[in-house]
Amino acid sequence: MCGIIGYVGKKPASEILIDGLKTLEYRGYDSSGLYISGEKRIRSVGGVNNLYKKLPKGMKGTCGIAHTRWATHGKPSEKNSHPHTGTSGYIFVVHNGIIENYIDLKNNLKKQGSKFSSETDSEVIAHLIEKQIDEGSTFEESVVNTLKVIKGAYGIAVMNKREPEKIIAAQKGSPIVLGIGDNEYFIASDVSAIVKHTKTVLYINDGECLVITPTSHNIFTIDLKTCKRKPEKISWNTERVKKGGYKHFMLKEIMEAPEVLKNSVRGRLLPETGNAKLGGLETITDKLTTIKRIIIVGCGSAYYAGLVGKLYFEEIAGIPTEVEIASEYRYRTIPLNKETMILAISQSGETADTLSCINEAKAKGCSTIGVVNVVGSSIARAVDAGVYNHAGPEIGVASTKAFISQLEVLLLIALYIGRKKNVSSSEGKNIINEINKLPKKIELVLAQAKKIELIAKKYSDSKDFLYIGRKYSYPIAFEGALKLKEVSYIHAEGYGAGEMKHGPIAMIDKQFPSIAIIPNDTVYEKTFSNIEEIRARDGKVIAITTKGDKKIPTIANEVIEVPKTIELIYPILTTVVLQLFAYYVGVHRGLNVDRPRNLAKSVTVE
Ligand code: G6P
Repeated sequence: MCGIIGYVGKKPASEILIDGLKTLEYRGYDSSGLYISGEKRIRSVGGVNNLYKKLPKGMKGTCGIAHTRWATHGKPSEKNSHPHTGTSGYIFVVHNGIIENYIDLKNNLKKQGSKFSSETDSEVIAHLIEKQIDEGSTFEESVVNTLKVIKGAYGIAVMNKREPEKIIAAQKGSPIVLGIGDNEYFIASDVSAIVKHTKTVLYINDGECLVITPTSHNIFTIDLKTCKRKPEKISWNTERVKKGGYKHFMLKEIMEAPEVLKNSVRGRLLPETGNAKLGGLETITDKLTTIKRIIIVGCGSAYYAGLVGKLYFEEIAGIPTEVEIASEYRYRTIPLNKETMILAISQSGETADTLSCINEAKAKGCSTIGVVNVVGSSIARAVDAGVYNHAGPEIGVASTKAFISQLEVLLLIALYIGRKKNVSSSEGKNIINEINKLPKKIELVLAQAKKIELIAKKYSDSKDFLYIGRKYSYPIAFEGALKLKEVSYIHAEGYGAGEMKHGPIAMIDKQFPSIAIIPNDTVYEKTFSNIEEIRARDGKVIAITTKGDKKIPTIANEVIEVPKTIELIYPILTTVVLQLFAYYVGVHRGLNVDRPRNLAKSVTVE
């Protein structure tokens, strides 16, 4: 979590840093701070705008570092905000990640006279560097030696008042990207923060350090060996990260669904043969057709996408599949062998728990593949092969467009494998045909936004919601409930519709509405009975069903229809209804749906 930006060049740094921090706020937004050469450190609680208001006019310094925080150690406060300094106050450090051995290091430093001013783990880095410089080491040596003693994950940027035109950065588990301009350099946790200044970038690898001055950049390992790498050109543009006339990123990103669903499969569909073309998997195609088991790992919405993926892999590719929450998987003893493949799903490609599952699986000799949205991200680079979502930057903290794109890509991967095994060409063609029709069908769902808004408004005072579904709608019940929790802070629970009577039905009364996801699929009748059970107990039901359904309106209190499609694709259509519902409930409750309290988009701590 947390976002870092740094600049060294000829322009005043303050504007570049504030602007970059605003882009990085999705990584954390409880406090922020900056240090610019020749100026005082400035820090503030709350969003980046609060920091901006505190800046003196006419700051001229041309080298600086800045940070937006998501609190891990110590609550959001000015003293816990970054940059942190050592006792003498000439070293400034911004840090993303967690230093696991900070208590021992802090106790040692205190014994040696260091004076700490925050509750953070990060502050030890500043003290360690400062102490070594005091003892005669160079700035570079002090940073490198500090990295050798800290344990955990970090992306850091460090400045030294005594060398005002230099930034040293380093990464292990929390990315730092270098942007190369014309006699100027940028560093950031994510390219989105620097893309308006340069499209020439260099990704720093774990265990590497970087020194930038206005005229040079130098990458080296912590053993001081120089690393030579060519910069890459990125194709992002800044328009893609603006709101484009919508009130919130979340709404903009939901409304982008038709385009996203086209982009995720562009050039990947072979309608004549009913097959998928996935260049990123070609190197491991043989393996994919012989593996005996897939384990999908992910967190949050990505985990729920995995639950749908499991059904695709079992039904279409005929491969037994398990899905694990990444933060659980990594601490369990799961018997693995070379016939098991680990598939990581991650929008950001930076989620620490998911990344560590991949590293762990690789160490055990398993093949790994990724379904990742952010090109060049840590997970994308760590996996053996993979498929990018091409959903474009997702800024709203609660995942929307990335989630539906994950489902679409997982379906394509299952088809890609299935067609090499048992799936017939006509079955394949049917799936491809429906995927091609999907953007138009999603438009019909989005056209009901007004109706969904009215229903959302009517129920927005509810204290609890139950979401139910079966088979392909079962994971969607979880995802729908998660979306509502994230953006409205209303308690919501996803449940298998059939399992509801084994507990949750006890809570049902007039005040406790349920959302039933009941498209016209193979489990329709069963879910219908579960709705009857809720209605028999006076519970209100909002049903999401297939257009033209005659039975549901006779029993549900509210009905929202999605166009008819095949069972495999209903989850994509019904999800968009639930995203709009959550969005409007959040908005009617007056909440900041793009940046819900306590959350961050990219969870780079375990
Ligand atoms: C955070 C976000 C969620 C996201 C999850 C996994 O919790 O708020 O929206 O689903 O992380 O993120 P990833 O980038 O790995 O998909």
